[in-house]
Amino acid sequence: DQHRARQNTLESLKLSHEQLLEIKRRMKVEMERGLRKDTHASAPVKMLPTYVCDTPDGTEKGDFLALDLGGTNFRVLLVRVRNGKRRGVEMHNKIYSIPQEIMHGTGDELFDHIVQCIADFLEYMGMKGVSLPLGFTFSFPCQQNKLDESILLKWTKGFKVSGCEGEDVVTLLKEAIHRREEFDLNVVAVVNDTVGTMMTCGYEDPHCEVGLIVGTGSNACYMEEMRNLELVEGEEGRMCVNMEWGAFGDNGCLDEFRTEFDIAVDELSLNAGKQRFEKMISGMYLGEIVRNILINFTKRGLLFRGRISERLKTRGIFETKFLSQIESDCLALLQVRAILQHLGLETTCDDSIIVKEVCTVVARRAAQLCGAGMAAVVDKIRENRGLETLKVTVGVDGTLYKLHPHFAQIMHETVKDLAPRCDVSFLESEDGSGKGAALITAVACRMHEAGH
Ligand code: BG6
Ligand code: GLC
Repeated sequence: DQHRARQNTLESLKLSHEQLLEIKRRMKVEMERGLRKDTHASAPVKMLPTYVCDTPDGTEKGDFLALDLGGTNFRVLLVRVRNGKRRGVEMHNKIYSIPQEIMHGTGDELFDHIVQCIADFLEYMGMKGVSLPLGFTFSFPCQQNKLDESILLKWTKGFKVSGCEGEDVVTLLKEAIHRREEFDLNVVAVVNDTVGTMMTCGYEDPHCEVGLIVGTGSNACYMEEMRNLELVEGEEGRMCVNMEWGAFGDNGCLDEFRTEFDIAVDELSLNAGKQRFEKMISGMYLGEIVRNILINFTKRGLLFRGRISERLKTRGIFETKFLSQIESDCLALLQVRAILQHLGLETTCDDSIIVKEVCTVVARRAAQLCGAGMAAVVDKIRENRGLETLKVTVGVDGTLYKLHPHFAQIMHETVKDLAPRCDVSFLESEDGSGKGAALITAVACRMHEAGH
């Protein structure tokens, strides 16, 4: 019957404990391949050095500008960091939009737009002409050889700007500043959003040695031992590694867990074949997986009375906030129906139940996959240190993690289940990753002044 047919399809999206353990194990293998010199070039999980070696110690101070590019919002921030008795951070920020034409335009257009936003912000803050050190949260995979140089390896998520891959984003930003001839800025640090988030949370909690983003995209960073980071000279101490775990599976190692829906979503994306793990987890893609399943059901006459509407054919209709609303516990079925109607989908009550169930299965799998990845990370930290048990905090940000009613809990349970020897706390970042970028900039400025 119809119910059975739908359940059979949804089965392929349900992962057993053994399958999740296997995914954790494969993540660990891929992490090691990314870290090692001889395998790094061909490894999809890049394990990129960040040149961030310390969490903040409270002595940082000063005024900094920060940029935050790559999530839902583009922000320019002014961050004031105080030390001593008045220790703390004060922030002012303004959100700017990045129009679609710019996200798919040229590098000059993108960076001119960014500089235009900085100019507007300085004027808005009454600081025209003031020159401050700048920390740049740039949430894409970059190869760094030092803190203030960051070569874009490839665009991910919704960006596809020409002339940037293979270039240093600091140079691109400086050139745009010079084209405008209005102000100068000292770009001190480029940081990934995972790293910024770890730092933001690390300012409150010294156990925070991992950063996690589950938003438009998904990624993690953590403090790795220098001796394991073969790409960087030196054996002593630790350095934060930007894993770029979104690319896990790009060599086919997750193929047996991917469904026809994952393949369809991947093929229609801006970067087909890339970021396969991210496409099973993050906000930019979950709604598309749901939509593909609904189309499949409808074609088979198992939903919407077998009629495919134009709306259902439209890409991107299920944004994270709708997925989160649909699954919210206090919602009556009629309200689910109202949400779907608002999206332009005419539904019966039965249809609403089915749509909600599809959302639940897709989000649950995402949370479990994310948990399996995180279990690999915390267990690696524990093994690195030769510990029986590890206590660690993960700083987290991202709209999916924050808005979805069940994602966080399922992810936490999965980590507990797959890494039982780690005592993991999750701390939500309240202030985004711009604050962390400013703190990293502050540390770099302090070191510079001290003559290091
Ligand atoms: C924000 C950070 O808080 O979270 C961004 O400041 C980051 O840098 C973002 O990219 C991730 O979430 P989303 O959901 O906006 O992609
Ligand atoms: C994408 C980016 C990565 C970022 C993540 C979360 O995976 O490649 O750098 O951290 O999205 O924003």
